[in-house]
Amino acid sequence: MEVKKGKIYIIGAGPGDPELISVKGLNILKEADFVLYDFLSAPELLDHTKDSCEKICVGKKDGLHLKEQSETNRLLLDKASKDNIVVRLKGGDPFVFSRGSEEARYLRSAGINVEVIPGITSAFAAPASFGIPLTVKNEIQSVAVITGRKSDKDAEIEAPGCGTLVYLMAVANISNVVKALRKSGRKDEVPCAFIEKATRPETRITVATIGTIEEKVKKEKIKPPAILIVGNVVNKIDYED
Ligand SMILES: C[S@@+](CC[C@H](N)C(=O)[O-])C[C@H]1O[C@@H](n2cnc3c(N)ncnc32)[C@H](O)[C@@H]1O
Repeated sequence: MEVKKGKIYIIGAGPGDPELISVKGLNILKEADFVLYDFLSAPELLDHTKDSCEKICVGKKDGLHLKEQSETNRLLLDKASKDNIVVRLKGGDPFVFSRGSEEARYLRSAGINVEVIPGITSAFAAPASFGIPLTVKNEIQSVAVITGRKSDKDAEIEAPGCGTLVYLMAVANISNVVKALRKSGRKDEVPCAFIEKATRPETRITVATIGTIEEKVKKEKIKPPAILIVGNVVNKIDYED
């Protein structure tokens, strides 16, 4: 493929293991003059860039914004306008609970050529990495990916009527997630599991039920980034350490 100058590539870095980026994403990264990346991207990916490549972390962690979104947008625009190959590297898939689509819209409206390179979302990689299927033929036939945190703190968390629910950003707000699950009619015995740092060497799974998960979060000191999977798929776990 030809990597074009004056263009922005919004690339999904994958869930954490640096080898889980796409071949296309990696090939573009190797050509980049300028990379803006998030905290969640596997840091090792930056080792593939040219010596002359300028790299800036614009991520958000524990409520700390290294750059405001407007500043990130302006920076991307400025660098692409100067005929650079610009990469916006984002954890997981850049269009899943991420601001990739907003960035793409802003840049396109400013006349910049943008290409989106999909990534493997942590929502799907985390369960698969521990042998948990999200669907089971003729048994569990739907899955929803939901945010466990809303910008309006009083807004209700969603718990749609799907076979499997996958929550992102649910650790700090676990009590409201549990409330939403109970309100949806799910019983306390329904199994669930938190997977921390999926596909990284330090990954860990904690299996519980809706009734015990809040207590487990405290006892096991579960920390973000983590994915919560809710539903009978958790009983189908097929994992060897
Ligand atoms: C702002 S969202 C970004 C999601 C990302 N775009 C994706 O597709 O995976 C951040 C949340 O993704 C989840 N997450 C990202 N990477 C993870 C990982 N390696 N292990 C577990 N959860 C992860 C966590 O729930 C974290 O709080």
